[in-house]
Amino acid sequence: VSRNRLFEILHLQDVNIGSYAAYEGWLEAPNAPRLKSYNPATGEVIAEVTLCSEAQYETVMEEAKRAFEEWRLVPAPKRGELVRRIGDVLREHKDALGSLIALEAGKIKAEADGEVQEMIDMADYAVGLSRMLYGITMPSERPGHRLYEQWHPLGPVGVITGFNFPVAVWSWNAFIAAVCGDTVVWKPSPKTPLCTVAVQRLCDRVTAEMGYPGIFSCFLPENPELLDHFVCDRRLPLISFTGSTAVGRQVAVKVAERLGRSLLELSGNNAVIVDETADLDLAVRAILFGAVGTAGQRCTSIRRLIVHESIYDELIDRLVKAYAQVRVGDPLDPSTLMGPLIDQTAVEAYRQAVEEARRQGGEVLYGGRVLERPGCFVEPTLIRAENHWDVVQRETFAPILYVMSYRHLEEAIAMQNDAAHGLSSALFTLNLRAAERFLSASGSDCGIANINAGTSGAEIGGAFGGEKDTGGGREAGSDAWKMYMRRQTNTINWGEGLPLAQGISFFE
Ligand code: UN1
Repeated sequence: VSRNRLFEILHLQDVNIGSYAAYEGWLEAPNAPRLKSYNPATGEVIAEVTLCSEAQYETVMEEAKRAFEEWRLVPAPKRGELVRRIGDVLREHKDALGSLIALEAGKIKAEADGEVQEMIDMADYAVGLSRMLYGITMPSERPGHRLYEQWHPLGPVGVITGFNFPVAVWSWNAFIAAVCGDTVVWKPSPKTPLCTVAVQRLCDRVTAEMGYPGIFSCFLPENPELLDHFVCDRRLPLISFTGSTAVGRQVAVKVAERLGRSLLELSGNNAVIVDETADLDLAVRAILFGAVGTAGQRCTSIRRLIVHESIYDELIDRLVKAYAQVRVGDPLDPSTLMGPLIDQTAVEAYRQAVEEARRQGGEVLYGGRVLERPGCFVEPTLIRAENHWDVVQRETFAPILYVMSYRHLEEAIAMQNDAAHGLSSALFTLNLRAAERFLSASGSDCGIANINAGTSGAEIGGAFGGEKDTGGGREAGSDAWKMYMRRQTNTINWGEGLPLAQGISFFE
């Protein structure tokens, strides 16, 4: 598909003229500063969007507040109907939106389409959830009393997302928030503004058709102060932040300062352990997808590989052969397995990490080079390393896999847990005891722990997130929705007396 055709299908033709913040249509800003969107595979500019000023931000926020007051009164299953229709529109536009993600974020088309599918799955999940926002009833200790809890909409929710999942992570938050009766103000990554505009426009069509107010809006701040203002904005009872641990820490402090709620989905430093009984065919494929997929730019990407010493040589040999088959190139070419990194800063971080690992004594087993061609391409890379090295302890958003060996499972689990982050982890084994040990209370300390499945590519049905420096938040499935609602405990006295709890007698 040509860029122009893609823009037509996704209603982006006028994006150059300046669209930046949306609520029931786009605010005009002819003289606003602009942001360029680049194609990371070529370095070329795809389009420009205009940025949002403080005054326009106020308009967006006031509308999000006003829309919330209306939206919270719509019955939840009716709110689900809106999300269901958005799911339909996403199905219709899956191919085009997938291509736009590939173009702007550099993800290969298959993974980009997968990201749109993740949104569709999320929409379906939220539709079902819209009839299942259950509160429980507790037995009251007092005669003639009923004690129960209910879940109410929370308010406008601020959602900050990264470039690597430019639309799916928003949908985890936005679709759940929408059925919960919240409105959503989205601050996307400045590296993927077109994906945002496209999704916003698809949603706008549905909300307008159904006669609802603008419950979804988005903006890209023209300066860092405005971003700060957003995080500190008391009109947003919840800030959901996906990004680095360093930035997440600042967000957490600012939101805590005003006693707001924050949902943090931060960096990972995910490890895979392969034991001596593992099915290596399975392990090799899973490691390849986890380490090379999205060019190592998922928060769930495999960064550390901990291999039993008895199978180390064989596994590495097979991995090196598999790595040699990886075609690096244009993300829109179906034969490509790995696209570019997002920008030159990421390429530089890759280069520095490889250099640092080498200086430490790391042995580059495969790759290690930046490719000499236009765009942000590097080689998928395997480096023999040690767990305690700074470079191994740090999350570098690039396709670098640090490999190490172990002798006893205890040691491997200790290594896997010996990292600041606690997002995702996996063990490849056919040994039942090892598997259960890994999943036990003294096993993996991560939010996600898998057996014979890689660290990345989680389904939306489970709660997604991790511990320690990953921030502790949980998004998407399971009961993650509770974060987007306020719980109210209700006591109803239907009797004629006034018995007090704890058996207190006060009136005699
Ligand atoms: C992210 O990288 O921020 O589990 C999210 C996965 C995807 C989501 C990743 N479903 O890899």
